[in-house]
Amino acid sequence: MVIAVDGPSGVGKSTVSRLVAKNLGLAFLDTGATYRAATLAILEAGVDPSDGSEVLSELSSHSIDYDERGVLLDGRSVAFDVRSDAVTGAVSAVSAHPSVRAEVVDMQRRWVEYHDGRAVVEGRDIGTIVFPDAQVKIYLTASPMVRATRRASDSEAGGKSVDEIADALAQRDHADSTREASPLRPADDAVIIDTGAMTIEEVVARITSLAT
Ligand code: DC
Repeated sequence: MVIAVDGPSGVGKSTVSRLVAKNLGLAFLDTGATYRAATLAILEAGVDPSDGSEVLSELSSHSIDYDERGVLLDGRSVAFDVRSDAVTGAVSAVSAHPSVRAEVVDMQRRWVEYHDGRAVVEGRDIGTIVFPDAQVKIYLTASPMVRATRRASDSEAGGKSVDEIADALAQRDHADSTREASPLRPADDAVIIDTGAMTIEEVVARITSLAT
């Protein structure tokens, strides 16, 4: 069983998806982390993130994987490094190239196949493109202000104000939902859950009940 969980930045996809996977004994894949690892490789190599063919050619000499420690770049655990401001600032540009997406999506499908097709997969285009036949499709939403307030209390926020975080989220939402290749949008058959007034436990219980 594949459970696809999509939605904008900061909506809580990873937290919720990880818990659903644990409840149901499924593997968990954070696809945003795979694009972030690709972006880290590009930045470390000094390649321009907006140059699609250079990005693709650089990525051909790297491997991306994912395990219980998080994302791996060439076998090195980079779960922490991929959360840097530099990676966050460049990941929309790297992930907008259709040829790059094709490679990364291929990796994601092979990863799920390796886990016997039993996984909770979270991202932006999982229900629409990566696993259009997923048994359960969820699209999580919450207003930018709610998402920014939640993120401000994360250790990742690094002392930024809620307004600064809300601006950055709105910019990334815009880039992710207006790009030509696989824009962020709910699949026609996705269950849309507005998490604004829900606790994490309530969201997890709702998804778990849809899957059982
Ligand atoms: O979920 P995240 O913030 O870690 O994702 C980082 C970026 O990766 C996000 O800005 C858009 C991109 N992304 C994507 O294009 N497709 C996915 N399935 C997941 C993430």
